[in-house]
Parts: sequence; C-alpha cells; structure tokens
Amino acid sequence: MRVLVIHGPNLNLLGERQPEIYGSQTLADINAQVEACARTLEISVTFAQHNAEGSIVSEIHAARHTQDAIVINPGAYSHYSYAIADAISSVKIPVVEVHLSNIAGREPHRRTSVTAAACVGSVSGFGCRSYVLALYALAKTQGK
Ligand code: DQA
Repeated sequence: MRVLVIHGPNLNLLGERQPEIYGSQTLADINAQVEACARTLEISVTFAQHNAEGSIVSEIHAARHTQDAIVINPGAYSHYSYAIADAISSVKIPVVEVHLSNIAGREPHRRTSVTAAACVGSVSGFGCRSYVLALYALAKTQGK
C-alpha cells in the first residue's frame, strides 16, 4: 500500500512553533516516526509539505494516479478551505485527516473541519501518534 502524507501550512515550523500546543518534535522527527510505523505495516510512505492552498490541491490531484491513500493535516485550511475539501471529494482514493492537537477542544474557529467532512475518517489530539493511528486505520480498513 502506498500512502502520501501531506502536511499543511506552518507545520514546517514544528519544534519552534507553539511547542506548548504542538510539542517539541520537528517535522523531520515526526516523519521519521511515521516512516518507522509504516514499515511495520508494510506501507510505503512519501511526504509533502505545502504552505499554499493551491499546492495542496495539486498534490491531492497528482496522488490519485500514484497513491493508494492520503493522510493529510491541512492545518488551518481545515477550518475553511472548500477548495481542499473539493479536491478530497474529487479523488477516489481514501483520505484520512489528522491533527496533532485536539481541535474539538480548542478555540471555536478550530472546532469545525470542512475538510474532514470529505474524508473517510479523522484522528485528532494524539500528537505525532495521530498520523500513526491514521496509517493503522488505513492498513486495517483499506488494506491491499
Ligand atoms: C493543526 C490544528 C489547526 O487548527 C492549526 O491551524 C494547525 C495545526 C493540528 O495539527 O493540530 O496548523 O492542524
């Protein structure tokens, strides 16, 4: 199974960005942990990070030909990007949304995810393990 992990805006600053909320791990640390978990699940993972909404849309489009599933953390776009939600709805491969923090317990503007509504499921609030749990869910429910 081939899974593309897409990290959205500002996630390139993990480690220095609000560590009290997002932890002290860098994006490279998180990717290394996700990669290690993927190996045990016999999943081949690739990673992308984009700050621009359109780049995320294009990445989702391109993945429909090369990947079996997507794990995405759309960052703040989760809360208002109908363009990313439409891109997710436009591809046939399953997409799982993840968040490091528990968006349901944060500020009111973060409690809604318009992109999660287009996904097969979502995992929120477990730090880096949100990504690992998403991979596990894909392996068990969409496994090839
Ligand atoms: C986030 C939550 C979003 O509200 C925020 O804008 C982020 C990170 C998370 O992983 O917890 O950039 O997606």
